Amino acid sequence: MQNVSGTRDLFSDELKKVRLIEQRARDFFTKLGFEEISTPVIEYAEVFVKSLGETTDIVMHQMYSFLDKDGKEVVLRPEGTAPVVRFYINLQVERPKVKFFYVGPMFRRERPQKGRYRQFTQVGVEMFDYPSPQADSYLVFILSEFLKNLNIEHMIQVNSVGCPKCRPSYSEALRNYFSGKPLCGDCQRRIDRNPMRILDCKVDSEIVKNAPEITDFLCEGCKNHFLEFLSFSKNMLDEGILSVNPRLVRGLDYYTGVVFEVFHRSGGNAIAAGGRYDLLAQFMGGKPTPACGFAVGVERLSEFVNLEKAKRTGVFITSMKETFGESFKLLKNILKMRSDGTIFEFKNKNEILGELIKRVDINLDLTKSLKSQLRFADSENFRFALIVGKRELLGGKVVVRDLELSKQEEVKITELFE
Ligand code: HAM
Repeated sequence: MQNVSGTRDLFSDELKKVRLIEQRARDFFTKLGFEEISTPVIEYAEVFVKSLGETTDIVMHQMYSFLDKDGKEVVLRPEGTAPVVRFYINLQVERPKVKFFYVGPMFRRERPQKGRYRQFTQVGVEMFDYPSPQADSYLVFILSEFLKNLNIEHMIQVNSVGCPKCRPSYSEALRNYFSGKPLCGDCQRRIDRNPMRILDCKVDSEIVKNAPEITDFLCEGCKNHFLEFLSFSKNMLDEGILSVNPRLVRGLDYYTGVVFEVFHRSGGNAIAAGGRYDLLAQFMGGKPTPACGFAVGVERLSEFVNLEKAKRTGVFITSMKETFGESFKLLKNILKMRSDGTIFEFKNKNEILGELIKRVDINLDLTKSLKSQLRFADSENFRFALIVGKRELLGGKVVVRDLELSKQEEVKITELFE
């Protein structure tokens, strides 16, 4: 049997990298005062349809949806922003200014290819009631610092997609430019409904090259906001990270003003993206609330993460037919230990105590020789082995073997668990 096309089983180093990113994200954004939010994986379709845009690829083709028994359409969430806005609208009365982060799976029925999955993980942040261009600069700054902490060399492309005041005249200019040109079928349809999306088309990139640029059409408000954002961001970011891409558009309709996409220095798919969505809260039924955020594609990012050489951890308990009961007693006592509990009387007791708490395993194959048990413990990267031998047990002792230093010492069992 096979897994669903476009989904992956994560295991070993691939999973470790994903977990590392998630853990770092939790630590990093908590430190910056963001509060974690976990919204459901299933939502009513209405949360996404109007907010992301009825003509967007996601809404038209990519949502996994089904009719619930009560006849309402339910979808697997394709992204995290709209659900957080739905939640925020109910919270808003008490706390207008709030910063969230989230970590979790998203689902899009895209054509599977490298870096494009049907289930993937996003780490996202959303800031509500933050209208200033400095807030946008802050966002790209913390995103860049987060990536730097993971040693990811990256570049950030930025643009403004304008607002309902300035976008109509730009769309009109695009319509004039594109009409009559030999565009692909998809883009022919986009001319009327959403001509800005043509700028994103890989097929028509030659025609797009000479299209009008939005920078020339921004209204006073959008232009000033963008220029201030640029000058602040240039000060805050390391040199060479930021560049303006006047043809950058996003595949979601809720953006107004500043948008950005982040790439690894070596290129490829975007590893993160975001921007400002000042009209979304009101559009979804809340009060007008300027807001901005971004999301990182965790699996895409994990391709560039290097795991440090795994350190040896934990304790492996050996066992033999005659001593199996004693080995299990040791395991039982170890499972009772907490970091604030038992003290291990040994000259490097703190280290052993630490290892006991982290990880413990026991040999369950009584036909295995002691030598092969120790070889197994070594290959599984355990730090210590507790060797439970008949002779030592007579003296109430076990042998603690340090697998890293290949040294061992007899220790009284009573001293292990004072
Ligand atoms: P997005 O650009 O659709 O934006 O997705 C953000 C990131 O999620 C992408 O840059 C990419 O790294 C990752 N991603 C998207 N689709 C896939 C896929 N099929 N497979 C693997 N990774 C993928 C959003 O979702 C917005 N909600 C971001 C945002 C937050 N804007 C404001 N706040």
